[in-house]
Amino acid sequence: MYAKSPHRGGTDGTALDKPARKRITAPALRERKGGEAIAMVTAYDFTMARLLDEAGADVLLVGDSLGMVVQGGETTIPVTLDEVCYHTRAVARGARFAHVVGDMPFMSFQLSPLQALENAGKLVKDGMAHSVKLEGGAELAEHVQRITRAGIPVMGHVGLTPQSYHALGGFKVQGKSEEAARRIVDDALALEEAGAYAIVLEAVPPDVAAEVTRRVGVPTIGIGAGPSCDGQVLVCYDLLGMSLGHKPKFARAFAEVGEAIQGATRQFIEEVRCGTFPAAEHCYAANEPERRPPASKTKLAAV
Ligand code: KIV
Repeated sequence: MYAKSPHRGGTDGTALDKPARKRITAPALRERKGGEAIAMVTAYDFTMARLLDEAGADVLLVGDSLGMVVQGGETTIPVTLDEVCYHTRAVARGARFAHVVGDMPFMSFQLSPLQALENAGKLVKDGMAHSVKLEGGAELAEHVQRITRAGIPVMGHVGLTPQSYHALGGFKVQGKSEEAARRIVDDALALEEAGAYAIVLEAVPPDVAAEVTRRVGVPTIGIGAGPSCDGQVLVCYDLLGMSLGHKPKFARAFAEVGEAIQGATRQFIEEVRCGTFPAAEHCYAANEPERRPPASKTKLAAV
């Protein structure tokens, strides 16, 4: 099966003879500090995960943002561990090379280091995550240490931590004062010291992100944190131009897939109504030897 992979090079010394694409691991990401920028994208299901994986994303994050972009909630707070596990399993089946991170939802890790370990274990064991992410700073150092010592890599997340929506008074840029910026740097240093292999920096001014990136020895992955981070992350629907409602300033759409979906659906409706779909080529003949699986599955299976 592997020999047929388009990611595997030829063996005849031609330009095709590139090294095979390998699974990206937490230690490999850790090594990317100051090197090739890390590209992380959120994903919530098998098909999207396979498409993003084939496009070359380094990391697929099954973010608790699923509470907003998949479930339609106002915040990420109601998301449960079982829900993250369910989506992470689907993404893990789609990701053949990318590193899959499961996001620990609100109140699944704050209670104690033991609770954090137990639920991180569930995300890896039941959810098939390769590592876990949790929101918070120095106050969680013991929790991070407990999880990493059990052999589960941890990604930290500081700056705007959406699970603290009520304490922060909304989704607001963090680290604007000198004191607040210093706290973010200290939090990131504490997470590194506790064993985190990478740290997400969300919605902080670029100079604060640059300072954190300079001070910590693990990669920083920014979202609304400017260009100095060691990597960038976007919610897949934002990146693809499929987001509804409020669009944060940093959420650049690299395509207009939302418009393409609506255009295709309008055409489908029109052709169903005027009878041009299905045509003869979409119908099975009575003497056909074998029925094929749907085209979308064939394409995914063939790669
Ligand atoms: O839940 C999420 O998608 C996230 C990213 C935006 C970093 O935490």
